[in-house]
Amino acid sequence: MRKRVSAMTFAVALLMWLPAAAQDQAQVQKGMAVYAEQKCGICHAIAGKGNAKGPLDDVGSRLGADEIRDWMVDAPGMTAKSKSTRKPPMRSYPKLSKEELDALVAYMLSLRK
Ligand code: HEC
Repeated sequence: MRKRVSAMTFAVALLMWLPAAAQDQAQVQKGMAVYAEQKCGICHAIAGKGNAKGPLDDVGSRLGADEIRDWMVDAPGMTAKSKSTRKPPMRSYPKLSKEELDALVAYMLSLRK
């Protein structure tokens, strides 16, 4: 009896988790497209592609979602906060839709080392 309950719990958990995982993956894919469209690679590098001065390969393990979002929404504020002196500084991306922003954040968070 006990065994059946835990197998059921597992099956239910899996069924709940699968669509969420698929959705996350779709967000990450969309984020990759936004990253390419916005030409973030002019100043940043991911997996050795782009500007080596701004590697983002481990950004998901260093920054949280809010901080990553703030870089897009308030780049000057984040430049000051992080005391970055790199030129040219990053500019905000006020034209990104909420969906594009969410997708970019999901993509950045997936970059971990
Ligand atoms: C004009 C150059 C430029 C462009 C274009 C640019 N950035 Fe940046 N970005 C920077 C600089 C400079 C920093 C500050 C960190 C540093 O000194 O390397 C930064 C910081 C960041 C950070 C925090 C990195 C960290 O290591 O803490 C993220 C995340 C980020 N940018 C994402 C993006 C994304 C996504 C785009 C495209 C939508 C983008 N950037 C476009 C120059 C740029």
